[in-house]
Amino acid sequence: MIGSILLSILSVAASKSLDYTSTARNFSIVLVYFTQTKTDHEVVLAPFGLWSLMGQVAFAANGTTRYELQSTLISNASNEKSYFENLDNLTNKLKEPSDGVEMMIKNFLFRDKSLKVPLDFVTRVEQTKGNIWSVDFADISAPRLLNSIIKSTTKFPIPVFGPNDLNATDLIFSNVFSFKGKWSTPFNASNTYVLTSVDAAGNPVDSVNIMSQEMNVPFSDIKKLKATVTELPFGTDAKFCMLIIKPYEGVTVTEVYKQLASVLLKNIFDKLKSDFNDVGTKNITVKLPRFEKQSFLVLNAPLNDMGTYTIFDPDKAELSGLSEDPLYVATVEQRARIFVSEEGVDVYSTIPANLEIATSTRPIYAKPFIFFIVHKSTMTILVGGIYGKS
Ligand SMILES: *[C@@H]1O[C@H](CO)[C@@H](O)[C@H](O)[C@H]1NC(C)=O
Ligand SMILES: *[C@@H]1O[C@H](CO)[C@@H](O)[C@H](O)[C@H]1NC(C)=O
Ligand SMILES: *[C@@H]1O[C@H](CO)[C@@H](O)[C@H](O)[C@H]1NC(C)=O
Ligand SMILES: *[C@@H]1O[C@H](CO)[C@@H](O)[C@H](O)[C@H]1NC(C)=O
Ligand SMILES: *[C@@H]1O[C@H](CO)[C@@H](O)[C@H](O)[C@H]1NC(C)=O
Ligand SMILES: *[C@@H]1O[C@H](CO)[C@@H](O)[C@H](O)[C@H]1NC(C)=O
Ligand SMILES: *[C@@H]1O[C@H](CO)[C@@H](O)[C@H](O)[C@H]1NC(C)=O
Repeated sequence: MIGSILLSILSVAASKSLDYTSTARNFSIVLVYFTQTKTDHEVVLAPFGLWSLMGQVAFAANGTTRYELQSTLISNASNEKSYFENLDNLTNKLKEPSDGVEMMIKNFLFRDKSLKVPLDFVTRVEQTKGNIWSVDFADISAPRLLNSIIKSTTKFPIPVFGPNDLNATDLIFSNVFSFKGKWSTPFNASNTYVLTSVDAAGNPVDSVNIMSQEMNVPFSDIKKLKATVTELPFGTDAKFCMLIIKPYEGVTVTEVYKQLASVLLKNIFDKLKSDFNDVGTKNITVKLPRFEKQSFLVLNAPLNDMGTYTIFDPDKAELSGLSEDPLYVATVEQRARIFVSEEGVDVYSTIPANLEIATSTRPIYAKPFIFFIVHKSTMTILVGGIYGKS
């Protein structure tokens, strides 16, 4: 029997092991980049969950498949024990309560009842606080059962599985993630105005609602990035923030994005902090569109670009740590939705994506920017994306 698995995931990092957290961070930045090159610019992703989910698979892989996963995840999977200890520590850190922020991230592993999964793997998933369920995938009510398991365990209200998601599949890694953050200083809706953007010929192409406010928040002009960066904190403790990276006039988002290989997130936060301390209490005018964006993404192609191939190939995938039966990954997909408003930000994501309900959203032809929702002490990127189309 050849089975296929659907991937999905979740997770977090410990500030002590900086190198470990930088692997997740680098993966997240690169994934957003390769995804946007495949999707014509606009994208929203919750990369951390995927990274942690794929890490579990990496430890069950052998040979070339394992090597490719490790290099794509930028993780050194040679020491399994410390890897999962780090992951556990990071997740605990991310889950520490924060005023004004509610976050939930949870992994599930669903397997068809006929699939034999080694005890080692089951133990590891359970150690990392994932839930394993054995279900009859051939039963037509199985997708509904999986949705109700997720809902009753996490209160996650969105159906993750569509009626055909279990077709020709034996194993599913699933992840649900939600983030609700209230701005430390909410925008005043009466200052929100409509901006009509124009094309090169001066014709109106789009209109967007721009929220605007005088705020005393970290702001830097980073010449090497060819962009300005604004840090908008959430809640009263500012453990989480949203970074808004706006390219200079005439500079594309892609140009800026490429610089993120050398201008590290840590450099950005260092600069924001030192500029903020130098300038002291000074208001700047922050302008941010109010927007909603939803992505239904199949990530196989971006993951190919990042070096993962054999896992998708029924003849070459080496996943003997997952099952005695030959398995390969049919698809890695994620659905993510972000809603940014005067009060704050509301995000959820699911793996798989429930592609049957996928709707394409109209691209926004407004001035583009890059955004990241970051857990500051660990510098973990929970959500990343690109708004607008240049
Ligand atoms: C992450 O990327 C930066 C810049 O490319 C690099 O210096 C750093 O070593 C990377 N971290 C890991 C763990 O690969
Ligand atoms: C991974 O870690 C092991 C032991 O911690 C080390 O020997 C090895 O060189 C590391 N590999 C890479 C690619 O960093
Ligand atoms: C994880 O956290 C525990 C408790 O704080 C600590 O003892 C341990 O060294 C940490 N593990 C790693 C790999 O950093
Ligand atoms: C299941 O997948 C197979 C092969 O992809 C397809 O032929 C079949 O129509 C699918 N069945 C359902 C119920 O979607
Ligand atoms: C929002 O702005 C309006 C008009 O400037 C003002 O009357 C109102 O008090 C403001 N609301 C808050 C909550 O600051
Ligand atoms: C900054 O703006 C806020 C909100 O509009 C205002 O309450 C505060 O007095 C301003 N501070 C400075 C230093 O201008
Ligand atoms: C493949 O990897 C698994 C998990 O690490 C291991 O248990 C198994 O012995 C490996 N199989 C081969 C053929 O190397």
